[in-house]
Amino acid sequence: MAQTTDLLTIEDLTVSFGTSAGRVKALNNVSLTLSEGEVYCMVGESGAGKSTLALAVMGLLPRNAVVSDGRIMYRDIDLLHAGPAQMRDLRGREISMVFQDAKSALNPIESIGPQLEEVILEHSDVSLRTANRMAQDILFEMGMPDPKRIMGQYPFALSGGMCQRVMMAIALVLRPKLLIADEPTSGLDVTLQAEILQRIRDLVKEMNSSVLLITHDMGVVASMANRVGVIYAGNVVESAQVRPLFSRSQHPYTWSLLQALPRLDDPDRRIEPLPGSPPNMITLPDECPFLPRCFKAQNQCREEPKPKLREIEDRHYVSCYNPVVHQD
Ligand SMILES: Nc1ncnc2c1ncn2[C@@H]1O[C@H](COP(=O)(O)OP(=O)(O)OP(=O)(O)O)[C@@H](O)[C@H]1O
Ligand SMILES: [Mg+2]
Repeated sequence: MAQTTDLLTIEDLTVSFGTSAGRVKALNNVSLTLSEGEVYCMVGESGAGKSTLALAVMGLLPRNAVVSDGRIMYRDIDLLHAGPAQMRDLRGREISMVFQDAKSALNPIESIGPQLEEVILEHSDVSLRTANRMAQDILFEMGMPDPKRIMGQYPFALSGGMCQRVMMAIALVLRPKLLIADEPTSGLDVTLQAEILQRIRDLVKEMNSSVLLITHDMGVVASMANRVGVIYAGNVVESAQVRPLFSRSQHPYTWSLLQALPRLDDPDRRIEPLPGSPPNMITLPDECPFLPRCFKAQNQCREEPKPKLREIEDRHYVSCYNPVVHQD
């Protein structure tokens, strides 16, 4: 088997936000590794910490965020200690991101064309004319039929879906080595979603790039991921190759997420929504945060601190004292 090289390694990342109500513990000892050419999908409920993770890698956490523990290594660069100039250089040239809220990520007082051209000119040695051509081409690739017209428009004049595609164009135009895409297709209709996902696959194929893809959509996970990480209340509770994750999910949370999906091959199956609600991230307990909602909870879960991630099968990690058992 070909040797895989790790491109991004996150170890024990712990991030909280200061608020007037207390510290929001958004990420709690999160670890993951992304190899070259790999698509890693991060899934989890709203508020689980997915965007915080993405912003931490980009060095774009808001001012009230505190990183109290952990490391983020991109190749041999320690991103948490890289200077602003180095981060700026990496962003755009090597690492790029599609933000969840595309409209507010674009500059509201500049038209689309210059925003795209700027990224190209800042990170590559081409003329303005070439940058203009590249900008038009990438917008066309993103399904914009009239790129010239779009380039003259301001973000407020574009729909949410169009802003998402512009954001995607900015993120992909320089063929980044690492793409972080935070819900990149959530506002798009299915045909456009398929197009955008195909562009991401093309990037992986052409450049052997790695993608950290954040999504709520298990269909997107099934069609895109090599590996999947499931995050609950700022903790990665399970990570595995995509097939075993779907067929042999071990954490009760993952199992419940998958149970809540309708299935074409089993239309009569009862769909069980997950009972309860996510925990308060300010007063997170020391024990497993999923405990109050867990159908597999036992005494050990109440008495001991939250379990660490452990490898139970080849590259299948779970943080649970009493995982779901599958009959072979
Ligand atoms: N700037 C901030 N100040 C205070 N709390 C914040 C801030 N940003 C995020 N949070 C809180 O941190 C936690 C994680 O938020 P995050 O945006 O990472 O979740 P998410 O998984 O991306 O959710 P969604 O699926 O809704 O996008 C949430 O409890 C959120 O309210
Ligand atoms: Mg988010």
